[in-house]
Order: sequence, then C-alpha cells, then structure tokens
Amino acid sequence: MKALDIVVLGASGFVGQHLLPRLRTDGHRILALSRCLDRHHTLLRTPGVTWRSLDVYDRDALTAAMRGADAVINLVGILNEKGRDGHGFERAHVDLTANVIAAAKAAGVPRLLQMSALNAGRGKSHYLRTRGEAEARVKASGLDWTIFQPSVIFGPGDGLFNRFAGLLRPLPCLPLACADTKFAPVYVGDVVEAFARALARADSVGQNYELYGPRVLSLRDIVKQTAKSLHRRRLVISLPDALARLQAFCCDFVPGKPFSGDNYKSLQTDSVGGVDGLFRLGITPRDPVDFVDAIVARSSRQRRLDSDRRPR
Ligand SMILES: NC(=O)c1ccc[n+]([C@@H]2O[C@H](COP(=O)([O-])OP(=O)(O)OC[C@H]3O[C@@H](n4cnc5c(N)ncnc54)[C@H](OP(=O)(O)O)[C@@H]3O)[C@@H](O)[C@H]2O)c1
Repeated sequence: MKALDIVVLGASGFVGQHLLPRLRTDGHRILALSRCLDRHHTLLRTPGVTWRSLDVYDRDALTAAMRGADAVINLVGILNEKGRDGHGFERAHVDLTANVIAAAKAAGVPRLLQMSALNAGRGKSHYLRTRGEAEARVKASGLDWTIFQPSVIFGPGDGLFNRFAGLLRPLPCLPLACADTKFAPVYVGDVVEAFARALARADSVGQNYELYGPRVLSLRDIVKQTAKSLHRRRLVISLPDALARLQAFCCDFVPGKPFSGDNYKSLQTDSVGGVDGLFRLGITPRDPVDFVDAIVARSSRQRRLDSDRRPR
C-alpha cells in the first residue's frame, strides 16, 4: 500500500507503543503528539517517528500539526478522572474528539481512525457514556472514519496482567469487586494489526470493529491466571455487591484511583463483543493464556532492573 503521513494522538501509551513500530513496517511516516514529552523522553528514540509536544486541546496548534497528513489516529482515553462528575471524561473523550475532527477538517485530513471501547454508549458509567458520545461525533463528522471497540487489551506492558501481578506479589489475598464480570481479552498485536489493515482497506471506511479475543474470562479467572503465572498461591475473595460498591467508593478518594465508582459502573456490563472485527479484517486472534507467563515474567524482570537502577 501507499506510504501515508499519519498523525497519532495518545501515541505514548501502551497501545501506541505497539502501534508505531507496526505502522513503520508499512513504511508510513508518523508524527506522534504528546501533551508532555519530558515525561516520556525514552520515546524520542522510536525509530522513524517524529515526536512533538503539543497541547492537543489547542485547535489551531492541532490543525497546524495535521496539515499535509493523510490520516489521524486518536488513541487518547482515560479510565479515571480527577473528580467524580464526568467532566474529566467529557474533556478527554468528547471535547478532544470534537477538536480532532475540527482540526482534521481545517487541515484537509480525510481519514480518522478512532479508538473507542466495547460497550461504548451503554450502561451508567461516565467512561462508557462519553465513549458513545465521542463515537457519535465521529460518525457525524463527514470524515472517512473507522472506529475500533476493543475489550480489555493484553500484551507486554499492559495494565491488566501487569497490574494484577503488582497487587498479587505482596498480598496473600485479594478482595475482588465485580469478580464475575466477563472479558474477552484481545492481544495488543492483534489490535495494532487491525489498525494497520484498516488503513490499507477502503472498505473499512464507515466501519465499527469490535476487537476481542477467543477466550472469555471472568475477572476472577484473570486474577487466578496471573497468580498461577507468578507461581504464587493467592486467595481471591469475590466481594458481594454491597462491599464492591463500598470498595469503589473508598478508592475514589485514594490518590491515583486504583479503582473507582465509575469503574464499578463500567464493570456492570460484560466486555465480550458480538460481531468479530478481527475476523472481518482477516486476523486470527491470539489466546491470552499463551501469553500470561511471558507478560508476568517480563514485568518481574523489569521490576528487578528498576530496583537495581535505583540509587542506594
Ligand atoms: N488498554 C486497554 O485495555 C484498553 C481497552 C479498551 C480501550 N482502550 C482504549 O485504547 C486507547 C489506548 O489505550 P492505552 O492503554 O494505550 O492508554 P494509555 O496507556 O493510558 O495511553 C493513552 C495516552 O493518552 C494520552 N492522555 C491521557 N490522558 C489524557 C488526557 N486527559 N487528555 C489528552 N490526552 C491524554 C496520554 O498521552 P500523553 O501523556 O503523551 O499526552 C497517554 O499516553 C485509549 O483510548 C483506551 O481508553 C484501552
């Protein structure tokens, strides 16, 4: 396919770090935007990628950055906001998407690939509601859009198995909210392959791709699989609903919000999908069970390296 000039927002995150090298293998030229490159200085070494610090909420600056590009990919998303009233989600999901659309139109960029999530627009969480509102903006944009709706994403550096590994290492038992909620975790390599293929296929314009893996796991299964890969015996206690709500309420006030009331609301809906977007794009989804050992071992190795590097 023709090499494209692509602007990527949210490229410094977990998915972005896998997407950029994949797009480079197709020869695309990439401008990756970050709100603050100082926090991500190792990224500047990504071969073949130009990085720029930019206030992505500044429409004029965004328009200038997009001028001459063939496509824009919006990966920005948050799982938690500072407050609790939904404003943070609205800003990061809806306002930013509106900004991206306006800037793309002003700069003459015809193509938009928008990252969203399974269940966007469903349920009572601000997270899913604002995801749905952002999707509606994209669909009404008049641009050549494609939307991706993944279940939870796993892979090296993920926030799933790595996060639970971090909790399970020091704790003998883990009280788990919403333990029965089901996921179909999708491999990050399959997610970025979907983006790469969609860019190359004209028939992906105007399409919504649900991205999910071949195995349905409850949250409890995911935690138990992580403990198994860590070779630790851990007690996983499924919290009854009232205690799950209480845990969510308390965590809302913990710095960094390890869990939140909004997370609790999102977790009331299974994240399993219905129409297989990976199949539609000719991608065979990978099974998380084949990867957990390597992901957890890598995170243990990284922890050892980090502690060796720490000044004593
Ligand atoms: N990981 C998953 O399991 C999963 C599942 C479903 C959907 N998704 C969606 O997939 C996308 C990528 O996920 P990810 O795991 O790579 O996310 P991530 O690691 O959190 O990265 C997202 C990037 O967005 C930028 N960002 C964060 N907060 C922002 C804000 N308030 N305003 C503007 N930019 C902000 C950050 O870039 P800078 O700091 O450099 O600006 C960050 O690197 C997100 O939209 C996410 O919601 C992820």
